[in-house]
Amino acid sequence: MDERLIHAARQAQANAYAPYSGYTVGVALETANGDVFTGANVENASFGLANCAERVALGAAVTAGARRFTRLVIVTHSEPPPAPCGACRQALAEFGSDLIVESVGPSETRVWQLGQLLPDAFGGEYLES
Ligand code: THU
Repeated sequence: MDERLIHAARQAQANAYAPYSGYTVGVALETANGDVFTGANVENASFGLANCAERVALGAAVTAGARRFTRLVIVTHSEPPPAPCGACRQALAEFGSDLIVESVGPSETRVWQLGQLLPDAFGGEYLES
């Protein structure tokens, strides 16, 4: 467990905008050179427009030029701690399946490699054939 990432994810979770579900999520995404980008879920009165914390962080990281990621820490109040949703798995898989995903709940932590959560992900290689 990386306390620096957990702390960053908790700070992001505190800023989550989730007035409709009441379910707050914070994440910290670490890049290969040690930078950390955070994200929180951002909901909308048009419910389907909710942005997951994972894709908010990924967008911030990619916007800053990052392309290689090592670790994603997710913080929620859920027990057992959740794995990322399917859409976020696919979004993250764009940048590699080796990513370590760590989900931290109030008393339990679960860890996966992204490739376990989304085996055989669709990727750009299919577009070339
Ligand atoms: N949510 C995330 O931020 N990440 C996930 O992986 C699953 C769900 C958010 C979306 C919505 O704001 C709330 O959690 C309830 O689904």
